[in-house]
Amino acid sequence: MTILVTGGAGYIGSHTCVALLEAGYEIAILDSFQNSKPELLKRIKEITGKDFKAYDVDLLDSDGVERVFSECSIDAVIHFAGLKAVGESVANPLHYYHNNIVGTLVLCQTMQKYGVNRLVFSSSATVYGVQETVPLTEDLPLCPASPYGRTKMMIEQILTDICSSDSNWSVALLRYFNPVGAHPSGLIGEDPTGVPNNLLPFVTQVAVGKLNQLSVYGNDYETPDGTGIRDYIHIMDLANGHLKALNWVTLNTGADAFNLGSGTGHSVMQVIKTFEEATGVKISYQAAARRPGDIAISYADPTKAKRLLGWQTERSLLEMCVDAWRWQRNNPNGYQSES
Ligand code: NAD
Ligand code: UD1
Repeated sequence: MTILVTGGAGYIGSHTCVALLEAGYEIAILDSFQNSKPELLKRIKEITGKDFKAYDVDLLDSDGVERVFSECSIDAVIHFAGLKAVGESVANPLHYYHNNIVGTLVLCQTMQKYGVNRLVFSSSATVYGVQETVPLTEDLPLCPASPYGRTKMMIEQILTDICSSDSNWSVALLRYFNPVGAHPSGLIGEDPTGVPNNLLPFVTQVAVGKLNQLSVYGNDYETPDGTGIRDYIHIMDLANGHLKALNWVTLNTGADAFNLGSGTGHSVMQVIKTFEEATGVKISYQAAARRPGDIAISYADPTKAKRLLGWQTERSLLEMCVDAWRWQRNNPNGYQSES
């Protein structure tokens, strides 16, 4: 079975490619490398000992996408390709709507042309926005707070409409919570461009000496220690969720949404303390103002994924920290380290 992985050179895509290859799937990667490095392809081969096709193609280039479908006999698609920086999406919404939505339309049109109708889509917990209660369940009304989040909500709607119009289609809409960590080999991991926005890459860059101090955004939330609570999920657990979702789209039709989270929330202070415990490295931090757009508490109700996909997380926050640190320590400059 051959799986087309759009955005397969990115953080989540690359770890999922490793999981797919190790499970015996053939893969083809399509990526424009606008937020990733070709070096990563070598690392995937090094970890798995397997070869695969990779295309430097932008999803907005319909001829390029068609070439990939004509050269590979694709059975299903995992669609990671997209832009994901919340702040950038607020500053440049047109760019985000164009890239994420038009890219998905081109992909689906080409899938339709080639009779490929199984798709696993990277949505995000950001589609929930601010809700009255936690844990978050899939049936809540969606109210994303940024253009980025709205691209995810709109794409979910588009894919649901395609499934309603054609009963041969099957789409799993995966709402990721907070993916962190790295492959245990330390060969692949998260390689953010510029100063990281997300907590754990910031922590690891402080630990390795690239950044001086972490700002803890808000210590006056209504949480036990006053800092924000999130549902962190090990990247390899998330990767395995995609294999389960692939099974689901193979056996079912229609569109359905699944939370991929652990069901447990951890505060910023708990993350700092667990990282220090896991690595023996002290993290310098200071309290700072709340980050605009942040919510106090977000964590998943993962019951539906467990029941219908047969998936749940297996790795602890400590393992996430150990693996994130191994990656950062071995690759202080990410994939640039070698060149
Ligand atoms: P990433 O930026 O590391 O990977 C995305 C990949 O898509 C990159 O390699 C980029 O070059 C590629 N890409 C972007 N636009 C493209 C286009 N038009 N054509 C071809 N390739 C294109 O991001 P990631 O963290 O691996 O996220 C993967 C997906 O999961 C994204 O859709 C993201 O929105 C979603 N997601 C991520 C998180 C997270 O915390 N990382 C959380 C929820 C959802
Ligand atoms: C952010 C995005 C969200 C995206 C998610 C995963 C925003 C507003 N939201 O969410 O859309 O889906 O990443 O990619 O950008 N924190 C600090 N100091 C830092 C960085 C973060 O204290 O330097 C805190 C945050 O306030 C939050 C927690 O750490 O309480 C986690 O932050 P982050 O990793 O950015 O994830 P999200 O806020 O969940």
